[in-house]
Amino acid sequence: MRTYELLQLLSKGQFFSGEELGRQLSISRTAVWNHIKQIRELGLDVHAVQGKGYRLADPIELLEHEQILSHLDDALKEEFLLEVFPQLDSTNRYLMQRIYELPASKSRICLSDYQTAGRGRRGRQWISPFGSNIYFSQLWRFGKGIGAIEGLSLVVALALCEMLQELGIEGVGIKWPNDIYFNQRKLAGILLEMSGEASGSCNVVIGIGINVNMSRLTQLDIDQPWIDLAEIFRGPVSRNLVAARLIETMQKYLSEFDDAGFTAFQSRWRQFDLLHDQNVEIREIQGTRQGVARGIDDSGALLIENAKGLERVLSGDVSIRFSEKVD
Ligand code: BTN
Repeated sequence: MRTYELLQLLSKGQFFSGEELGRQLSISRTAVWNHIKQIRELGLDVHAVQGKGYRLADPIELLEHEQILSHLDDALKEEFLLEVFPQLDSTNRYLMQRIYELPASKSRICLSDYQTAGRGRRGRQWISPFGSNIYFSQLWRFGKGIGAIEGLSLVVALALCEMLQELGIEGVGIKWPNDIYFNQRKLAGILLEMSGEASGSCNVVIGIGINVNMSRLTQLDIDQPWIDLAEIFRGPVSRNLVAARLIETMQKYLSEFDDAGFTAFQSRWRQFDLLHDQNVEIREIQGTRQGVARGIDDSGALLIENAKGLERVLSGDVSIRFSEKVD
């Protein structure tokens, strides 16, 4: 916690002497030095200059509860409970552990500056460096049983695309079911986790990771091409603002989905569908299938056309086979 307080002081990028930092936090200069070491271990570059003290090489915007709320309408603020943390193992895990602790008629949202064990789809890790990205999770209760959430993960992807468009980005697309790409590089990912009964209510945790100011970090061990908002906008982007826009859009999309189901969204899919008319390969537990992607059906399943006709794909890892062109 002290490390975080020190980081708050340094966040604007000004110099502070070790003595001044120690005084402000009521700790010794040795303790200051240890916290500086921990900040460096988070991947942030701290300059130490004789006679001037310490400063962050790049100023950093920390997530702040009040900052995020300041971008939102008062009426909307009544619809959710917001928690903001400097560090969690995983925002999804945090809400999964509280999956039945949902305030009456509200959703519950949490954000963290850092995740020590960020979760990706298919058991993969989601690399979550400090203060660089959005790590967002939202807990929502759907009252009509597990069947009624068919298509939800696609709806979340559509919500993200709309939010990114409203931020001014043209050209984002979705790789079914819910990977968000820009220029063939991954910009955001979505992970849904749930607990529910076939007929009763179904509580879902929707996790979203958006790459925001990641490019300044080096030595990231990410096994696929990625891009962040800072590269698209050619400059740093306010994470508090992106968080607010995300909350706003998610509240809108989830309420609409809750009321009208997936059919209300199906027609919006085509404009973001990166797979449309592409040769694709689907890796599933049972094996591999190939075909030409032909959009989705009214439940959100991917349709592929091959020698067997039109087949539905419900889950699996999809990749585009670029070698063959399709008319
Ligand atoms: C993917 O593999 O594409 C999904 C990535 C989802 C990452 C987000 S970050 C916030 C939330 N908490 C997690 O542990 N994972 C999700």
